[in-house]
Amino acid sequence: MRRIYLDHNASTPIDQIVRMAMAPFLEHAFGNPSSIHWAGQPARAAIEQARTEVAALLGAASHEIVFTSGGSEANNLALKGVAFARRDKGRHVVTATAEHPAIMAPCAFLERIGYEVTKVAVDGAGRVDPQAVADAMRPETILVSVMHANNEVGTINPIAEIAGIAHERGALMHTDAAQSVGKIETNVDALGVDLLTIAGHKIGAPKGIGALYVREGTPIEPLIHGASHEGGRRAGTESAMLAAALGAAARVAADLSDMPRVMKLRDRLWVLLQAHLGNRIVLNGHPELRLPNTANISFVGRVGAELLAGLDGVAASTGAACHSGRVELSPVLKAMGVVPDVGMGAIRFSLGRSTTDEEIDAVVEAVATAMRN
Ligand SMILES: Cc1ncc(COP(=O)(O)O)c(C=O)c1O
Repeated sequence: MRRIYLDHNASTPIDQIVRMAMAPFLEHAFGNPSSIHWAGQPARAAIEQARTEVAALLGAASHEIVFTSGGSEANNLALKGVAFARRDKGRHVVTATAEHPAIMAPCAFLERIGYEVTKVAVDGAGRVDPQAVADAMRPETILVSVMHANNEVGTINPIAEIAGIAHERGALMHTDAAQSVGKIETNVDALGVDLLTIAGHKIGAPKGIGALYVREGTPIEPLIHGASHEGGRRAGTESAMLAAALGAAARVAADLSDMPRVMKLRDRLWVLLQAHLGNRIVLNGHPELRLPNTANISFVGRVGAELLAGLDGVAASTGAACHSGRVELSPVLKAMGVVPDVGMGAIRFSLGRSTTDEEIDAVVEAVATAMRN
């Protein structure tokens, strides 16, 4: 069976360069990075080099990078870390309705312990209106968190504008860039953010590593207390292997020159499917302000999971899940106001740097055949 992987927003294959960067730590470089002797120092050097590489990807200074276990931890550190550190200033957080569960769940936790959270509605394309953020701000708002690009539909938010509003009102700005990094520019100064999340396994590093950018001077309480690792922001002996992996992945991600080709392939998928299926398909998400690799397409009147099951060897995601015999729309599509008959049939195709024309043609053929059945 031929295998075609169009689920890069879920996870990516480990890059060859990343594998090479990790190899020494599986063989001989075992030392504790905090040890000052010959065994520890190469590990320390590798971590600090990786920190510089991640910082370069984001246009940050290396001391502003905190390594975490992934995107979820980075989001938790941003939200709870700022909420705890700024609790005397206020207890109100602004976010949006199409955020990832790794934002929604820490927000729900903050609500349980006495904070207030306002979730700004997204529009039909999944986009946050900066004016809606402005309207949600209060004197006691300490943090605004809006994702850079949506994981399901790829819609890109106007982060710089929203950050301007947050700062005008004395709040800090966080963005979850787990999906945008390596696909579009993610420069922290251009975005105007104080905190930014990245996840290694979305950019060719393994699971278990990510990072939070924390602008110098931003107050943040660690989630894990212990020794003074990561500048006192996250305790625990660091993994030089995983840091080196993220550093190498950051070098690859910084080069966006493949993205116009990826976008062309994504659009080819859409155009060819349209040629076969006409108005039986609907594009979910913003037609232009969208990640170059993401096409969330609804096959109207069909159930995405059933259709996908008929596409032998094609890995992609659906926008609806089956719960106790009922098909339920994803919270993102629901937040966008997608009607059930359309949302039920959603499939997210997310391409990668290795995706080829032949693969797109094969998927189109497979979908067209499945739609005839
Ligand atoms: C937008 C977004 N944020 C956060 C995460 C969570 O990252 P991780 O899987 O590294 O915990 C994901 C992963 O699906 C994501 O897509």
